[in-house]
Amino acid sequence: MHAEDANFTFVHFTDTHIMAGITYTSDFGWQVDTQKTLERVIRAINALDPAPDFAIIGGDLTSPDLIDRSRRPTPEEYEPSYQVLHETLQLLNCPVHMLMGNHDDRIAFHRVMQHEVPSPDFPHYFSFNHHGYHFIGLDTLEPGKHGGYVDAQQLDWLRDDLHAHQGEPTLAFMHHHPWPVEIEWLDTQNLRNGDDVVGLLRDHGGVRWMICGHVHLDKEIERDGLTQLTSPSTCFQTSKVSQARKTYAGPPGFRVVRVKGRELSTQVLYLHADRNDEL
Ligand SMILES: [Fe+2]
Ligand SMILES: [Fe+2]
Repeated sequence: MHAEDANFTFVHFTDTHIMAGITYTSDFGWQVDTQKTLERVIRAINALDPAPDFAIIGGDLTSPDLIDRSRRPTPEEYEPSYQVLHETLQLLNCPVHMLMGNHDDRIAFHRVMQHEVPSPDFPHYFSFNHHGYHFIGLDTLEPGKHGGYVDAQQLDWLRDDLHAHQGEPTLAFMHHHPWPVEIEWLDTQNLRNGDDVVGLLRDHGGVRWMICGHVHLDKEIERDGLTQLTSPSTCFQTSKVSQARKTYAGPPGFRVVRVKGRELSTQVLYLHADRNDEL
């Protein structure tokens, strides 16, 4: 199908931060059950009209590392959280693509999702086509760091993938934001070689949007025809004004994208009440 005839919807939700069996208590004092908030988001997505063709989850899928910050959990300790994620996603009525974030563990992720990978901790990047559009998912996880990085091997893959899809309208997804969101503490943990990634995306000529997670807030930045969108988290959000770290529980949110021919439009929905009929 040519992009001119495209007519579909997809959703981007992110930072699901599943911690198996735990109601997360933040250092700000608020609590959130991240499995419950994900279930609410999934119910809302299932109620969308038109229904989305697919979903992309923007990373920080799980985060048992937040329970005890003094040490990093083992892949075995990560696995129950990916199991809970996997089971919860069975509720979703459309196919789903997942990205890695800084709180994720590739080894446990691949094991639970039963991916065939060249090595146990192989970066999880991919691309696919849908109705004349090209979609790219990058893996910006740099183990042990809050910020992100795309290594040389993945950059080579990205260059080749873009070349193979020259001229096709393209959307790129990554956990970490290449461009500053103008919130100081978040901009110290961005995609540190974002210029390399953006350079390749710009060379392609057809990349319209970069859609990111990580910052737990919805923002839109446009530079010379390329737009960076960030989506809110399904569980807890970041202050839109504080330059120092400040987070708060809810409301769960997600992004809906409409594609009609060459036109893209988007909106962010927040679940202020646990009722889909109030969307
Ligand atoms: Fe996150
Ligand atoms: Fe993150």
